[in-house]
Amino acid sequence: MQIEFVEFGPVAGEPLTAVAVLVFEGPALSDSAEALDGVTGGAVSRAAAGRFKGGKGQAVELVAPANLHASHLLLIGAGSKADFDGAAAETAGAEAYKALKLSGATTLELRFDAAPELLARAAFGASLAAYRFDKYLTKEKPEKKPSIATVRVCAADAKAARAAHAPLQAVAEGVAFTRDLVSEPANILYPEEFARRVKALERLGLKVEVLGEAEMAKLGMGSLLGVGQGSRRESQLAVIQWNGAKDKTAQPIAFVGKGVCFDTGGISIKPADGMEDMKWDMGGAGAVAGLMYALAARKAKVNVVGILGLVENMPDGNAQRPGDIVTSMSGQTIEVINTDAEGRLVLADALWYCQERFKPKFMIDLATLTGAIIIALGNDYAGMFSNDDALAGALLKASAAEGENLWRMPLPPQYDRMLDTLAADMKNIGGRPGGSITAALFIQRFVNGLPWAHLDIASTAWKKPSTNATIPDGATGFGVRLLNRLVAEGYED
Ligand code: BES
Ligand code: MN
Ligand code: ZN
Repeated sequence: MQIEFVEFGPVAGEPLTAVAVLVFEGPALSDSAEALDGVTGGAVSRAAAGRFKGGKGQAVELVAPANLHASHLLLIGAGSKADFDGAAAETAGAEAYKALKLSGATTLELRFDAAPELLARAAFGASLAAYRFDKYLTKEKPEKKPSIATVRVCAADAKAARAAHAPLQAVAEGVAFTRDLVSEPANILYPEEFARRVKALERLGLKVEVLGEAEMAKLGMGSLLGVGQGSRRESQLAVIQWNGAKDKTAQPIAFVGKGVCFDTGGISIKPADGMEDMKWDMGGAGAVAGLMYALAARKAKVNVVGILGLVENMPDGNAQRPGDIVTSMSGQTIEVINTDAEGRLVLADALWYCQERFKPKFMIDLATLTGAIIIALGNDYAGMFSNDDALAGALLKASAAEGENLWRMPLPPQYDRMLDTLAADMKNIGGRPGGSITAALFIQRFVNGLPWAHLDIASTAWKKPSTNATIPDGATGFGVRLLNRLVAEGYED
């Protein structure tokens, strides 16, 4: 789908154009709604006379109104006019796309009478709403395919709106990149294929190195390698660098992702019901990859490292057994009580490698780590754990602004003992109570005295049904927007 910004003028009159205008609470017609009410001889006010009050989430569709050269006219409830901000504009753009995507119209024209930044956000909302993972649909009926090929945004200052949209376009592409990775099934997207797709991002100016099993063995990554040893697929560690700061040698910030391309549970195998969900157990790595995409595509003025621990957790004859003791890159030994608690084993070595090599200012890891976080927070909040109040505060601020919700969880020292065991430095599970917390405490044992945050996104990486027009059912891309904003607001030159 293409996005264009044009100078405001009369409705152009191509046959399959759908026009969307805002109606504020009241209902109070926006300027464009008022103008088209005139053109159509009062059709807009007649349509807005029923239960439609211009509230958020409300919409009324008029088909081929008289005297208007358009196939559809959509009135979008925009809520109170005083509160019409970026988030509201984004929702309105997304709702307009969603309401008209199957209408048959090929152009969606947004007439939102707003400032350039808000128009850019409306276009951004429409892009996010237009995401689809349809590459394997060979028999889809034509009427089920979205008809809109172009979103045309009318602006008083088209140039300014276009400029405001450029960085958002980069973020939307990053989100789509993440959603594609997360949506792919595990027979297609295994560690090497994931690494190849990331390597292809070098075209954006990123530097990508890929380490295989032999290199990781040399580095002593027994914890990560133990997870992948029961799989026919080779484990990989992808190291992505974006050096966009003025000083290319300035200390970077770092993001680390759990990339379990499929999680059977290993020998501690999962039940069959719902196991297919474990294709998206690489959602953390997917988000880090999409974030790096967005930062490079908008040429962010910052040095960033992204590290992806890519493995497949399978139960073959070479698989790791419950009770095995592995030695991590940090030197600490781990008794693997449950092979299904594998994400933390991957992160242990990926985080240690990150600190040793890059000495970052801070480190944030993202992982679909525990079922327990879904029980604790439901599907609208990811769990955030941090050893640093400033970093946690910055994350919460970005979270609120971007609508990707975080809830801070505790790291109680007295629970850390739950990881103690007889024959090794620690075991990899702490029992059912506080399962997300003991998982985070485990990871914390591999953080070597720097600010760190851990985002458990098992709750938010995938959503079906979705409750937000900017997020179609399935892969959400959670984390890309949040972390892009964190970087933009706090760490660029
Ligand atoms: N990948 C799962 C967590 C998960 C569950 C992600 C549901 C997305 C949706 C993780 O590797 C796992 O299996 N965790 C176990 C930990 C337990 C064995 C301590 C869990 O949550 O049950
Ligand atoms: Mn698991
Ligand atoms: Zn997992």
